[in-house]
Amino acid sequence: MIIIPGPASNALGEAIAHKLGQEPVFIRNKIFPDGENYVQLPTELKDKTVVLIQTTAPEPDRKIMQLLFMARTAKDLGAKRIVAVLPYMAYARQDKRFLEGEALSFDIVLDLLEAVGVDDTVIIDVHCEDALEELKPKHKMRIHNITAIFALAEYLQKNGYAGAYSLSPDIGRKEIVERVSKVMGGGFAFFEKVRDRYTGKTTMVVKNLDLKGKNVVIFDDIISSGGTMSRAIRGLKEQGSGRVAAVCTHALPVAGANEKLRNAGADRIVATDTVESVYETVSIAGLVADFLKTL
Ligand code: R5P
Repeated sequence: MIIIPGPASNALGEAIAHKLGQEPVFIRNKIFPDGENYVQLPTELKDKTVVLIQTTAPEPDRKIMQLLFMARTAKDLGAKRIVAVLPYMAYARQDKRFLEGEALSFDIVLDLLEAVGVDDTVIIDVHCEDALEELKPKHKMRIHNITAIFALAEYLQKNGYAGAYSLSPDIGRKEIVERVSKVMGGGFAFFEKVRDRYTGKTTMVVKNLDLKGKNVVIFDDIISSGGTMSRAIRGLKEQGSGRVAAVCTHALPVAGANEKLRNAGADRIVATDTVESVYETVSIAGLVADFLKTL
């Protein structure tokens, strides 16, 4: 097995390789003045299982294109099996046609990966597992989803949130957060988020919970504008909760998101290293390495 980090995941790819007791093999890449991508792979890939590790944020289109170039080139060089690890998979939120005529972006990106010869795609905390299950039969390549939520919970337990209440800020991740709440041990609830499909605006239904003085961990897959988290944090703090940790797998904060979270009263912001961020970080390198051993 050869571990090749893509330009977007050099550090994580190296960490995964080290967990497997290997040295990663880096590629050459550059961006031409007009914005096009260039990649060059090592040539000794014949009959090898090649693991490409490339996250797809920020700049999802560039990073997806680099990954497609890497996969197709590995195929051309005779790789026996190509495993694409997308620590964060962009476009996975558009996993349904919410409005007529919309591009089913998630499915299209999966199609592209398959078209360039990927045999296995590995995603960490896909936005909606049910949607992935529906799309799987359409694809010949195997698609695997690994959750980082239990690694995050373990970290929080060891870092000031043992026995904390667990909250899902919307119904989408209710089941997995309910499962992780059993590990956290402090109870579970979820809020409801309603999105206007035309304007994109969301509103949150905050339930009344008995939280006086209790610490709470909000688990979500993504922090982007920080809107979802900050509304949930406010809802909790207004009910007299104790410390609140805003926890996500994928940190994709846009400008202003951090202030929004801090102003809402986030005591901690924790993410994984699927995407590099300024937040407290839990590495998924071990999780991915353990999974790769099972292939
Ligand atoms: C959406 O359903 C996701 O699970 C996240 O809640 C969402 O992407 C977070 O985005 P934002 O930080 O912009 O509210």
